[in-house]
Amino acid sequence: MMETQIMVEQAVEAFRKLLEEQLERVERMEKDAVSEKKEKKCIKIGIVDGDGIGPIIVKQAQRVAERLLAEEIANGSVILKRIEGLTIENRLQTGKTLPNGVLDAIKDCDVFLKGPTTTPKGGSMESANVALRRELDLFANVRPVSIPEKGIDWAFFRENTEGEYVLGSRGVQISDKMAVDFKVTTTLGTKRIARAAFDYAKRNGKKNVAIVTKANIMKKTDGNFSAICHEVAKDYPEITVEDWYVDIMAANLINESMASRFEVFLLPNLYGDILTDEAAQIQGGVGTAGSANTGDHYGMFEAIHGSAPRMIEEGLGEYANPASILRALVMLLDHVGLSVKAKKLTDAITKTDTDLSVRVTGNRDGATCKQYTDALLLHL
Ligand code: IPM
Ligand code: MG
Repeated sequence: MMETQIMVEQAVEAFRKLLEEQLERVERMEKDAVSEKKEKKCIKIGIVDGDGIGPIIVKQAQRVAERLLAEEIANGSVILKRIEGLTIENRLQTGKTLPNGVLDAIKDCDVFLKGPTTTPKGGSMESANVALRRELDLFANVRPVSIPEKGIDWAFFRENTEGEYVLGSRGVQISDKMAVDFKVTTTLGTKRIARAAFDYAKRNGKKNVAIVTKANIMKKTDGNFSAICHEVAKDYPEITVEDWYVDIMAANLINESMASRFEVFLLPNLYGDILTDEAAQIQGGVGTAGSANTGDHYGMFEAIHGSAPRMIEEGLGEYANPASILRALVMLLDHVGLSVKAKKLTDAITKTDTDLSVRVTGNRDGATCKQYTDALLLHL
């Protein structure tokens, strides 16, 4: 056999394995789904630094959490637990996306606040984010964006465990001629994110859910995603459902005459990744948006942005904006039922944001991450 033919045979074998694994994942999903959550007497919150600007912004977020939750920590209803070891150095040195002990330490917590982690481009090292989302089955990526003066109050519900991401580091290369990656959409995986989006819309009096795909091209995966979302929508007759293609939606987000008509977005993984950065930028920059990754068992809360290696290289790390990780902390508090504290923090962020003396610009002309937080603590 020719060399490329052998490679094709090997790829077909690898594909068979991937399909079988994915079907096993669907079975696990079916088994693990829980509809009711138990009330907890003590909430354990993990704190993970991450890479680049991660340790800088997380340090300030931890100060805020310690102050805000002082009472709960004192009476034992909340435990803050630092989790070390999820660094790029450690990952490269051990060759493991999630070095030994890190995942167990995270699983020992109910929720965790996580600084951005660096993902090496190319190579075979998987993104720590993607691995955590998969290992903890954090299927809902919820990203709110709000610009009151433009009448914008958006909530993005991004499917967080499937699509292009689930097998993103397991594509096949056939000699130097060709490469193939895989995209996976499952019925259950789509149903559960659709349910989360429609439940949110219903709870918050939202009237419109926009399903965003490229179903005209990705006919199976995106086609199914859209069709399944419409099925779920039948249980929410009071909510209007629309289908949009991702390209025109990218345009609409910056079309002032369209933007404010959207409320809830329901999207597969990759489109959700792209549009939420765009939306965060419209809000004032990726440094301003929080991100919740939740599943039936765990919750990971993080800034929407990456580890900003360029800021570190240029010695600007201390000038990173902590607003994004603080907004993630707000979402974490809401998620564990500490809504009064969440509201208190939101109010403090809003007040601090109007204080021009501590405006963070990401540059030396602005305030440092610590100066911003010092000012914010005065409002708590
Ligand atoms: C995000 C990030 C991640 C993603 C990276 C860090 C893997 O861009 O959370 O949006 O692509 O999902
Ligand atoms: Mg992203």
